[in-house]
Amino acid sequence: MDEQHQGRPIADSRVTLSKIMTAVDVNLYGTVHGGVLMKFVDDVAGAAAARHSGGTAVTAAIDEIVFIEPVRVGDLVHAYAQVNWTGNSSMEVGVKLAAERWDEVGGTPIPVATAYLVFVAVDVAGKPRSVPPVVLTDPDDKRRFKEALIRRDHRLARRAAIQRARAEQ
Ligand SMILES: CC(C)(COP(=O)(O)OP(=O)(O)OC[C@H]1O[C@@H](n2cnc3c(N)ncnc32)[C@H](O)[C@@H]1OP(=O)(O)O)[C@@H](O)C(=O)NCCC(=O)NCCS
Repeated sequence: MDEQHQGRPIADSRVTLSKIMTAVDVNLYGTVHGGVLMKFVDDVAGAAAARHSGGTAVTAAIDEIVFIEPVRVGDLVHAYAQVNWTGNSSMEVGVKLAAERWDEVGGTPIPVATAYLVFVAVDVAGKPRSVPPVVLTDPDDKRRFKEALIRRDHRLARRAAIQRARAEQ
């Protein structure tokens, strides 16, 4: 059986990008703008989705993004992404951002943000195409897969509830 049907290990999708934050990345308060970090999150998640699906994948939704600590100019920010869950053509990608403070040499990178995004693999016409299922090997991957299902169930339930509420108006 080929990989498309058999599945692809989660480790194959893992991507790390690193970037130094500069003066053009700041907000009015002098820390790094949330939008700059969101673009970074989307970039690394897109790379993980492309790796898993073996081609183009577009951002369909951002389920959740949490900013834990401010990021400062000069910080070296690492973005880690992997595919957590797959449907037919959609994938949930989990992203973690961690910052090394420019003035704390040798310190452990501190978590600054987490995010979960849904990507859809598309063909040349922009139509959804199927993706290989994820192969779950270690306990953390199994936990992330289960948590992704919870987020998907909540997303679908929320959408249905909003549609019902609108229909009642
Ligand atoms: C994402 C997109 C390809 C989906 O196309 P579509 O014709 O609506 O697709 P379908 O309804 O057939 O759904 C296809 C899959 O996408 C998923 N999907 C579609 N919209 C979604 C949403 N808002 N949130 C989560 N998943 C979504 C469906 O659940 C389905 O998943 P499955 O195949 O794993 O079961 C299309 O809406 C699109 O091109 N959006 C714009 C993407 C974009 O420009 N992103 C920013 C730049 S990358």
